[in-house]
Amino acid sequence: MAGQSAERRSVRVELGDRSYPVLVGHGAVDGLEALLGASRTVALVTQDGIPDLVDPASLGGRSVERLQIGRGEEHKSLDTVGELCSAFAAAGMNRGDVVVAVGGGMVTDVAGFAAATFHRGIDVVHVPTTLLGMIDAAVGGKTGVNLPEGKNLVGSFWQPRGVICDLDALATLPEREVRCGNGEMAKYHFLTGDDLADLGEVDRIARCVEIKAEVVASDEREGGRRAVLNYGHTLAHALEIASGHELAHGEAVGIGLVFAAELARELGRIDEGRVADHRRVVGELYGLDTEVPAVGSVDRLMELMSRDKKAIDGLTFVLDGPAGVEPVAGVDPSVVADLLASSLTR
Ligand code: GLY
Repeated sequence: MAGQSAERRSVRVELGDRSYPVLVGHGAVDGLEALLGASRTVALVTQDGIPDLVDPASLGGRSVERLQIGRGEEHKSLDTVGELCSAFAAAGMNRGDVVVAVGGGMVTDVAGFAAATFHRGIDVVHVPTTLLGMIDAAVGGKTGVNLPEGKNLVGSFWQPRGVICDLDALATLPEREVRCGNGEMAKYHFLTGDDLADLGEVDRIARCVEIKAEVVASDEREGGRRAVLNYGHTLAHALEIASGHELAHGEAVGIGLVFAAELARELGRIDEGRVADHRRVVGELYGLDTEVPAVGSVDRLMELMSRDKKAIDGLTFVLDGPAGVEPVAGVDPSVVADLLASSLTR
């Protein structure tokens, strides 16, 4: 791991001339100005209720345009992107200027997509303020918005100029957001053999970023391997939808990780000990539920999983196995349905 002092880490996402640093640590936002280059105007895109991490006076005399987007999935839309781009134009921004996205995954996704399209692409720096944003959404260049037809259906791969994970933002994170981050954090325990539980906060977050950076560097546009970042997500997405989003994403991912482990065991890929490891990490270490809740019938959950937009050949799961965690297409639906049925009646 590339790093500096005990309290600060810098992880590099290696993408040739589009490589960039992810700074991790308390007070890391003091590294923002250095990432703004020769820009004269900064559009600071955020949301109501987000910690006020960025002091405009610390941005080297640049003109700062503060823009707020609405809360709620309905604002993750092309209309919001249009409004942002109009505001960038009204502020006289051009390709030399920078968008700074300060907030959770919704803010970095929407502001990142606006940056990707304004003037055919201007630079963006992400300052994620949630654990989920720091270890997942803000790193790797996925940007996008929803359509009435589905989530994240319009977007682009647009890598940021840098990402700043200032851990001060986590001090006031609501409990639900912490659980969301923990679901994704649990995922990283299984993508490598690392014992993340042994690490302190800064190192643990930096290690998650490093794992993600390595995967993104090897498969930026999700031709194959990047799909491992969706470990636990196939059932999780179905549970989120079936529960009418009562179940938060990270909570659903925790359940999805344990279910994926049980499925891998059913398919002879891993043994019961490895399944127990999943239950321990998700349930004991992160305090998340491990049992499939009764939010929908087997048929409904199967239908939702078969519609997963990452499916390339029938039912696709990311599964653990002798060669580690990998995407597996064409999983026998009857094995999945039987396991779901027994999980729902436990
Ligand atoms: N959130 C999964 C990815 O960035 O590929």
